[in-house]
Amino acid sequence: MSSDEIRDVQRAAWAGLAPGWEKWDAIIMDQLRPVSAAIIEHLAIADDQQHLDIASGTGEPGLSVAGLATGGNVVLTDLAAEMLDVARRRATDRGITNYEIRVCSAEALPFADGTFDSISVRFGYMFFPDLSGATAEFTRVLRPGGRLCASVWVRPEQNPWTTIVMQAIAAEIPLAPPDPDGPHMFRCAAPGHVSALFEAAGLREIAEWDVDVHLVTRSRAEYWEMISEHVSIAAAALQRVDRGARERIARAVIAGARRYERDGRVSIPGVARCVAGMK
Ligand SMILES: C[S@@+](CC[C@H](N)C(=O)[O-])C[C@H]1O[C@@H](n2cnc3c(N)ncnc32)[C@H](O)[C@@H]1O
Repeated sequence: MSSDEIRDVQRAAWAGLAPGWEKWDAIIMDQLRPVSAAIIEHLAIADDQQHLDIASGTGEPGLSVAGLATGGNVVLTDLAAEMLDVARRRATDRGITNYEIRVCSAEALPFADGTFDSISVRFGYMFFPDLSGATAEFTRVLRPGGRLCASVWVRPEQNPWTTIVMQAIAAEIPLAPPDPDGPHMFRCAAPGHVSALFEAAGLREIAEWDVDVHLVTRSRAEYWEMISEHVSIAAAALQRVDRGARERIARAVIAGARRYERDGRVSIPGVARCVAGMK
């Protein structure tokens, strides 16, 4: 697939997932909050920070940065306008006004060199057609001394919140191993993968560290519903199953989540990796 084709597929996929992300916003944001906290702590946001959020989706961590940088400005960018529409509604609900929205791809940023003090990329890297090209763009628009911090998912085995569903789907239909060079949720899972991109782009003080997360739902049925409606790999695979298979998958997922039930809730762990560097 060409880079343009990859972008078209991604744009359409995320446009389709936007309603799920909006519907399950509270649960998704609770799950991913520790990652935002780690990114924001590393970026050391000042009151007048000029910040760029890449692959911002429904707005995080950009809107949280905007809430801290009340004398600064945050630009939210993403390929999918439908995801950014949700971000706009979330900003309005929170009374956040010091932000702008630009629909654009990570590899072609419509900003001058040295524009930003900091850049965040929460769970976007693995979907870019050209990881090196995107990293070069981030480096270009950072000011000297500016910081970049991204997060990616580590291996599926450490993220049962997705593997429960993927194993249930694999019991119904063959799932081909993902193209290692194509967009995929776990494409950047290897330790050092994103650090090497940062190094090649000329960034310094590179660090990477893991962050634990928990996906907490009120019931196992709610867990199944929300995963099937917002997780990219699950939603894509579920498009290929018929109604009967979908019902069997739902039953298997709901049974598989039983071991994570605690105090009337379901809490399923996962691990993300943050990678940071400075220009
Ligand atoms: C998992 S979501 C992450 C959203 C948000 N940062 C968060 O953590 O909640 C991935 C986002 O990457 C965006 N994306 C995919 N390919 C992209 C590209 N080439 N350039 C910019 N954004 C892209 C998708 O549209 C989607 O909104």
